[in-house]
Amino acid sequence: MIVMGSKSWKQGEPLVRMELETPVPGRKQVVVAVHFIGVNPVDWKMRQSGPLRFAARALGAIRGPKPPVVIGVDFAGVVQAIGSDVTTFAVGDRVVGGSNFSRGQRGSYADTVIVYPDQLCKLPDSVPLDIAGCLPVAGVTAHMALTQYCPISAGKKVLVLGASGGVGQFAVQIAKHVLNADLVAGVCSAKNVQLVKDLGADIVLDYTAGDPLLAAQAHGPYDVIVDGVGSYPAAHCRKLLTKDGAHIMVAGDKAESMLQIAVPPFQSKAILGAPDGQHLLPLVQAVAEGKVKVLIAHCLPLADAQKAHDLSQGGRVVGKIVLQARP
Ligand SMILES: NC(=O)c1ccc[n+]([C@@H]2O[C@H](COP(=O)([O-])OP(=O)(O)OC[C@H]3O[C@@H](n4cnc5c(N)ncnc54)[C@H](OP(=O)(O)O)[C@@H]3O)[C@@H](O)[C@H]2O)c1
Repeated sequence: MIVMGSKSWKQGEPLVRMELETPVPGRKQVVVAVHFIGVNPVDWKMRQSGPLRFAARALGAIRGPKPPVVIGVDFAGVVQAIGSDVTTFAVGDRVVGGSNFSRGQRGSYADTVIVYPDQLCKLPDSVPLDIAGCLPVAGVTAHMALTQYCPISAGKKVLVLGASGGVGQFAVQIAKHVLNADLVAGVCSAKNVQLVKDLGADIVLDYTAGDPLLAAQAHGPYDVIVDGVGSYPAAHCRKLLTKDGAHIMVAGDKAESMLQIAVPPFQSKAILGAPDGQHLLPLVQAVAEGKVKVLIAHCLPLADAQKAHDLSQGGRVVGKIVLQARP
């Protein structure tokens, strides 16, 4: 099988195309022929410096398979083979899922992955594989942010920081069209204001025109603030919340952000998306029903994974970047 990976977990190892032995599934496992792979910031962040990133690599080295290291989480494709104990999937099923190196698996930057059934969700014919490949990390994290700590429903208000980003676009649509929030406010740059309005935000605040947290105050208090940026002061965010509200630090992957969870009244929460079958199901349904749309900004061949990372790291891509592993 063809993968994009690196020789070791060492920081900054170049991403290279490699040919590895095609996996044989264990009794409880499923082999998926991967067609599309969603690119997420975590894919390139894992390879950078910093204490939490070092810790993530160390965990990968301990819990993951032996090098070469294959990065990536999101994938969508077709079941190619199943182990003898697998009853919930059949060869030919169209699926979406997330690979998990802490379960001893290689990542999804490959034309083939081997995972457990609970990591997969079946796709209806109406959901294309390229769209499905964008759902796992960004979509599941957005859904969890809106349902885990202070579940959003009719009558509630949501503020999304980074509303035009991968996670933010999902958060705006899920809050408005799936969970029926009363008010969704989104913060983005001037060029993306119309896009965020079109996604369903009731109010869109342009952060290039002044402090968006000050402007957001007039429309609060909020039940959930989804922070997909990570540079807004957590203390200011907490001031915009209802008494039981939650400030969800989606982008809080720096050590100093982590400290915010310990600040009374404990309304800032760290979150780690769990892109498994159970969490993907409501999202797949929402896409099938037309309640959530996915904007694909770039579709590149798997061999161009480094180019995809350069684009993602630039921070100005509007929509998801997807890699194509098979024609
Ligand atoms: N915790 C988890 O499990 C988890 C899961 C997924 C992602 N993440 C993290 O969450 C963050 C966002 O991920 P993503 O996939 O959404 O990234 P992305 O697609 O690159 O989006 C980032 C967005 O941030 C916007 N932005 C930049 N500065 C801003 C500001 N000052 N105010 C408002 N918006 C601003 C940019 O939009 P404009 O061009 O409009 O400025 C950009 O679209 C990353 O740090 C990622 O690592 C964490």
